[in-house]
Amino acid sequence: MRVLGIETSCDETAVSLVGQDKILSESISSQIKIHSKYGGVVPEIASREHLKKINILLENCLDKINLKFNQIDGIAVTSHPGLEGSLLVGLTVARTLSFLLNLPLIEIDHLEAHLFAHRFKNPGPPPGIGLIISGGHTRLLHITKWGKYKILGRTRDDAVGECFDKVASILGLSYPGGPAIEKIAKKGDCSKFSFPVSNLGESLDFSYSGLKTAVLYKIKYDLKSKINDKQKRNIACSFQKAAFEPLIKNSIKAARRYQSNWIFVTGGVAANKYLRKLFIDRGKREDIKVVFPPVRLCTDNASVVAACGQFYLKRDIEP
Ligand code: KG4
Ligand code: ZN
Repeated sequence: MRVLGIETSCDETAVSLVGQDKILSESISSQIKIHSKYGGVVPEIASREHLKKINILLENCLDKINLKFNQIDGIAVTSHPGLEGSLLVGLTVARTLSFLLNLPLIEIDHLEAHLFAHRFKNPGPPPGIGLIISGGHTRLLHITKWGKYKILGRTRDDAVGECFDKVASILGLSYPGGPAIEKIAKKGDCSKFSFPVSNLGESLDFSYSGLKTAVLYKIKYDLKSKINDKQKRNIACSFQKAAFEPLIKNSIKAARRYQSNWIFVTGGVAANKYLRKLFIDRGKREDIKVVFPPVRLCTDNASVVAACGQFYLKRDIEP
């Protein structure tokens, strides 16, 4: 079964072909350079860029492996959540192709697509705890079985990726903030500053607005807005540590509560190598397997959309 995936929910225009849990071909165009001069994604520009790129990427994705449109078995597209105008571009292309080629169309939840970064192995992984950490969401789930989820926790204010982007902007770093903070934090000393780690008691929810404000106040009031590069590196390092602690703590708490020894982490923030190391080490101590997908499958891409579509199409054929 070959499934075409289309992703245009934010600032990546992406097309992918997946067959039998393998990526056959991918074409992606990132708008990061265009939006970085505005310090964040400008929705109107994003949808126009998707419109410019989508047809070229579609042709390119099929041409690379010499495949014709009539050799596809189904289409999967991100339908929500995301930027309305951007989603509409992918949805319109997917619905048109499905109508013209008479192919089944599966509309995919963006967050579930992120989880499917873990499904590229046959047989797929067992159920467990899922942690989705991106620019728009911070969500903890119990995957009771693949395709069936119970929400255990979510952010009460900012998403963790959004917090990285805002703190990066406070530090004068480029957009997207996550990779920029990770880069300078590598040479920082995490013990030089101490930022508050959110604690919501027994709840598995998250909160990131206090941490962002703590960084802002530290720089503006304690340091009188005068920070040198060394201080910037130390702040970045201490911030990362405070941002990651609740993610790890709540996921491990959830794993214990639901007697699961698998935690699947995904979404743009899961690309962070420092988080990977901290999380995997803590998991080992608790006898819990903490799994991260390859970095390029963490951020927005169409392969995870196609993998999710393939799962539902197969399930419809062989329930
Ligand atoms: O999943 P994603 O590509 O898009 C959304 O669905 O939002 O995630 C983008 C987010 C951005 O906030 C970005 O700063 C963050 O993921 N991010 C990172 C890293 N790479 C991307 N955060 C921390 N460390 C990274 N290496
Ligand atoms: Zn995403």
